Amino acid sequence: MLYLGLESSCDETAVAIVEDGRKVIAQRLVSQNEVHSKFGGVVPEVAARRHLEVINDLVQEVFDEAKVDPRSLAGIACTTGPGLIGTLLVGLSCAKALAWSYDVPLLSVDHIFAHVCANYIDTTLEPPFVALVVSGGHTQIMHFESYRRASIIGQTLDDASGEAYDKVARLLGLGYPGGPAVDKAAAKGNPRAFHFPEGVVSGSDFSFSGLKTAVLRTVENLKGAELPVEDLAASFQDAVNRVLFRKTIAVARSKGVSKVVLAGGVAANSDLRKRFESLADIEFFRPAPALCTDNAVMVAAAAFYSGEPVPLSVSAYSRQR
Ligand code: KG4
Ligand code: ZN
Repeated sequence: MLYLGLESSCDETAVAIVEDGRKVIAQRLVSQNEVHSKFGGVVPEVAARRHLEVINDLVQEVFDEAKVDPRSLAGIACTTGPGLIGTLLVGLSCAKALAWSYDVPLLSVDHIFAHVCANYIDTTLEPPFVALVVSGGHTQIMHFESYRRASIIGQTLDDASGEAYDKVARLLGLGYPGGPAVDKAAAKGNPRAFHFPEGVVSGSDFSFSGLKTAVLRTVENLKGAELPVEDLAASFQDAVNRVLFRKTIAVARSKGVSKVVLAGGVAANSDLRKRFESLADIEFFRPAPALCTDNAVMVAAAAFYSGEPVPLSVSAYSRQR
């Protein structure tokens, strides 16, 4: 079964065709990083206009490469939320037009579920498993009992981990998006150079606002001197990843689950991946780095496993539900 996936929840326009939720047939992605970097973050209105400029061409290119008759698709899937409402509507309008004109079912895909489904590509992963979803908008530990049923066990009470990466990157003058830049700088730094707090939240929840403030204070106190950017990046990254790793493993053990998966943009972080790779008793899955950040392959995979058939009147939603 072939599904077409469309993704436009933030600043990546992406289109893909995936077979049976596991095998990529064709994909295209246009990132808007350069457009938004001068603003230091995503400008929603600018992002929506840019999606509109490129999405139709990407759809055509994917059909051409896959040599697939659109009428033979099992479904046309689109991220309907959570995300930026204006950008989501561009992808959804395109998906509706395609579904209507080719007479193919329209499927709604949740962005968080889609991120997790990136782990099905080229693997034999099956639920149950525990997923750590870490992106620019979300940080949560989820228990997937089946392909469709998942519960949130813990989540951030304030900033998402990716947001913390982006804010600290800005503080350190590393630019946008910050996560990859912090990752790179941290690789050359000493994670024990500064002691940053993990955030005092009990149970499986997280808080990153205190950590962000601690980095800010340290940077302010160092004013005048040359900033030890690599050490600061490494020490910040260590504090974030330490708590993400510890709490996720604790949930997996308490649920008696033997598989853990990483998902979302921050799942591309090399230090975070290394921590989970070190475990002997837990099988660890993570998407290829290019499938951690927003893409349409994960949307087409999610369509197969958890896509909801929806009427053409369906709307997008900005917040998780
Ligand atoms: O999942 P995603 O592409 O978009 C959202 O759904 O939010 O995640 C984007 C986030 C950004 O905050 C970005 O800085 C972060 O993922 N990120 C990383 C890395 N690559 C992307 N954070 C840490 N290390 C990375 N290598
Ligand atoms: Zn995302």
